[in-house]
Amino acid sequence: MDLLTNSTHLHIFSWVVGIIVFLIAATQPLDSKGRKILKMVLRVFYILIIGTGLALFIKYMSGDAALYGVKFLFGILTIGMMEMVLARQAKHKPAQLFWILFAISVLITVGLGFHLPFGIKLF
Ligand code: HEM
Repeated sequence: MDLLTNSTHLHIFSWVVGIIVFLIAATQPLDSKGRKILKMVLRVFYILIIGTGLALFIKYMSGDAALYGVKFLFGILTIGMMEMVLARQAKHKPAQLFWILFAISVLITVGLGFHLPFGIKLF
C-alpha cells in the first residue's frame, strides 16, 4: 500500500482532522444533533487514524520495534481518552481527569511521531 506508506501525509491529515472534530464535538450541547453527527464522523476518523498508522507501523517498525510499539500504544490510548471524555460528558460526570490524560497522551504520541525516523523528524 504505497499510498499509505510513501509519506506520513495521510496519517497526519487523519489525526489533525480527527482531533479538531473531537474538540468541536466535545463542546457541543449534549443530545444536540450536531454532537451526534460529529461523533459519527469522529469514528470514521478513528478508523483512518488507526488504518494509516498501522500501515506505517507494519512497514517501518523493524527499525526500532520497541519505540514503534510505544507509539502504537499511545496512539490508541489517545483515541481511548477522546472516547472517555465524550462518554463521561454524556453521563453528566466530571471529565476533567480524562481531558488531562488526553492532553498528556496526545503530547507523547505527537512527540514520538516526530521523533521516529520516517516522515518528519524534528528531534
Ligand atoms: C490521535 C492519535 C495519533 C496521533 C496524534 C499521531 C501522531 C503522529 C505523528 C505526529 C507522526 C509523525 C509524522 C511524521 O513524522 O511525518 C506519526 C507517525 C506515525 N504514527 Fe501516529 N498518531 C496517532 C495514532 C497512531 C496509531 C493509532 C498508530 C498505530 C496504529 C500510529 C502509528 C504511527 C507510525 C507507525 C508512524 C510513523 C513513525 C515514523 O515517523 O517513523 N499512530 N503519528
